Amino acid sequence: MEKIIIQGGKPLYGRVAMSGAKNAALPLIAATLLAPGCHILRNVPDLRDTRTMLKVLEVLGARWERNKSDVKIDTTELSGGEAPYELVKTMRASVLVLGPLIARLGYARVSLPGGCAIGARPIDYHLRGFEQLGVETKLASGYVEAISNSKLSGGVVYFDNPSVTGTENLLMAAVLAQGTTVIKNAAREPEVGNLIDMLLGMGACIEGKDSDCLTVQGVKGLQPADAVIIPDRIETGTYVLAVAAAGGEVTITNCNPNHLPSLLEKVRDVGVEVEEGESEIRIKASVRREGSAQSLRSVNIRTMPYPGFPTDLQAQFMALMMVAEGVSIIHETIFENRFMHVAELQRMGAMVDIDGGTAVVKGLGEIVPCGAQVMATDLRASASLVIAGLAANGMTEITRIYHLERGYENMVEKLLALGADIRKVQE
Ligand code: UD1
Repeated sequence: MEKIIIQGGKPLYGRVAMSGAKNAALPLIAATLLAPGCHILRNVPDLRDTRTMLKVLEVLGARWERNKSDVKIDTTELSGGEAPYELVKTMRASVLVLGPLIARLGYARVSLPGGCAIGARPIDYHLRGFEQLGVETKLASGYVEAISNSKLSGGVVYFDNPSVTGTENLLMAAVLAQGTTVIKNAAREPEVGNLIDMLLGMGACIEGKDSDCLTVQGVKGLQPADAVIIPDRIETGTYVLAVAAAGGEVTITNCNPNHLPSLLEKVRDVGVEVEEGESEIRIKASVRREGSAQSLRSVNIRTMPYPGFPTDLQAQFMALMMVAEGVSIIHETIFENRFMHVAELQRMGAMVDIDGGTAVVKGLGEIVPCGAQVMATDLRASASLVIAGLAANGMTEITRIYHLERGYENMVEKLLALGADIRKVQE
């Protein structure tokens, strides 16, 4: 297994380009199942999760090839509608094939994802939604079996919480249903908008993009897609926070600043200079020295559905608050168990108290944290350890970095180019 070693305390300078969004690539890859033919997806990040999704498609009979960041997917012939446990257990977003499979084949058998490091994460909203469209669902031997004997029929679906993959799954089922489907309290994340644009390009009829109420008029058939994946806003936010914590001046390119309204506002409140261009963000943060007054102020955050503060940046923001001056209160409202990074940050000197979904972080102020041996526990928690390592004095060793590779394309190479002292080695 590989680990990452960081010699901290080096500010970051230069330009870094963002990759396509993992959380947009996954539903867009699944959506190619809706129309037989050859699809092309552009700006697809080469990550463990996108490779897993392409493997799921392969098991279903599709063929694909990658040329740089373009991926061609041929879904002319499908051999079946079953996504096995071996793949789904490594990535719960594999459940995104349920919607398109039911719509195209009238049948799908997909393994239940099971538990995950950040909470129970059920798929009950997805299943209840499918039932509103006339699908019979049952659980047997760890699998969800979904069958529809006739064409799906439109219905009204209401989500208790605006679920991102739930909205995407239902949209993909509804585009080929008979009649009108209304999805109420739908997720408004930019990744949902990216999927809607792809489906519109394929001939679907959807109204309400970027709102919490989506109306889908089912169509008889769809054409193959030619779609572009949006830039990864979580990767972008992670680099913003890395520069804020390590100090320096970096221009982040190939990104969409409009997709990070709450983060950029919070980072400005912390005392970091943020300049937004059309597809660039320039970040300038002062370089801290042991014993000198701290220029970063503590601020509070509450994770919320888009456009609120993203839960996928909570751990990285906590790493920044660890080195700020004052007390920061962090409320995690989306997932119940998303503080796994705290115990690891504490090994580096962080002062954090947790009470249910609330973490109180007492910033270290004049004290610079010290590097330590830490373990990555999930994807975004791993990124918070990298940020803490960049801001710390001395050496930080991060093990179980396969989590990081699920969602960050070339992170070590990108940070190296910005002047970080970081390397990947075999354990
Ligand atoms: C997606 C993102 C993930 C992000 C999350 C929240 C992808 C591939 N993953 O995950 O990175 O952290 O949105 O922004 O896009 N819920 C239920 N029942 C359901 C579905 C959801 O109770 O059937 C709950 C969840 O436990 C959670 C909330 O609804 O409390 C929102 O979760 P959801 O938006 O569905 O997360 P994912 O789509 O799995």
